[in-house]
Amino acid sequence: MSIKADFIWLDGQLVKFEDAKVHFLTHSLHYANAVFEGTRAYLGENGMAIFRLQDHTKRLLESAKITAITPSFSQEELENAQIELLRANNFKSNVYIRPLIFLGDGIMGIYHTKAPVRVGIAAWEWGAYLGEEGLNKGIKVCCSSLMRNSAKANFNKAKASANYLNSMMAKYEAINSGYEEALMIDEEGFIAEGTGECFFMVKNGVLISPPNDYSLKSITQDTVLKLAKDLGIEVKRQRISRDEVYVCDEAFLVGTAAEITPVNSLDNRIIADGLRGKMTKKIQDAFFDVVYGKNEKYASMLTYI
Ligand SMILES: Cc1ncc(COP(=O)(O)O)c(C=O)c1O
Repeated sequence: MSIKADFIWLDGQLVKFEDAKVHFLTHSLHYANAVFEGTRAYLGENGMAIFRLQDHTKRLLESAKITAITPSFSQEELENAQIELLRANNFKSNVYIRPLIFLGDGIMGIYHTKAPVRVGIAAWEWGAYLGEEGLNKGIKVCCSSLMRNSAKANFNKAKASANYLNSMMAKYEAINSGYEEALMIDEEGFIAEGTGECFFMVKNGVLISPPNDYSLKSITQDTVLKLAKDLGIEVKRQRISRDEVYVCDEAFLVGTAAEITPVNSLDNRIIADGLRGKMTKKIQDAFFDVVYGKNEKYASMLTYI
């Protein structure tokens, strides 16, 4: 699927896809201070609905606050912009939405506060980030040789572009070494998160996910935790070392892009029988019921466009 649409929303207006251009001296292009979101809209029986639009937009604005960027659009305006963009593009299948708050051109140098603040939102039709087969059969993962961004040096609660060099280099290393994804280890040796996902494992019937000390506060992780409660699954938030994953019963990654993707091996140790686990499947099914509008309890998580 190509990243293509009819319109992009830029600084308050819908512009034609081909016209959504920025100048070479765009500040964020040089120094990477920009913040973004990744949000999905699912086409269910009742139409196209954006999943957890309010939560994603809130996190976008919180990321901007953390990185000392002040956009001139309110939460409500940005939510409406995403709805307007989806309506204008008239997509025919599931969509990924990418809002970006960035610093435009006009000044140079590391002191950024005089740079103009710009906001763009793109959306395109997008399938499974780690592949349809990945969702069903699971993926091969390694622990990255790169440590997760340290909380002593980075703001990991911001979905900040600058944070993603760490993820990108880990992903590059993983794919070029024959894996499909990398797990990032925190500075104390425990699993922080994936390059763009949070992590869960199952051991003896208990679902375990690390605290968000070194990770983004994942909206998908939060959804999974809510669903686990509904399903009567015991949940623990505790640190996980990589060797605990080698001998766990099931493991999976969660994120807006990755949705619920099983992990079938870590560092070449096959997890259990190497297939998608039973609890993983249960949670996947429950998650897709929610995003496709089949679970009334979570209807408020969907914004129909
Ligand atoms: C580094 C990182 N961790 C975790 C996640 C999962 O977050 P969410 O479920 O809110 O998409 C993402 C994706 O946004 C991410 O980029």
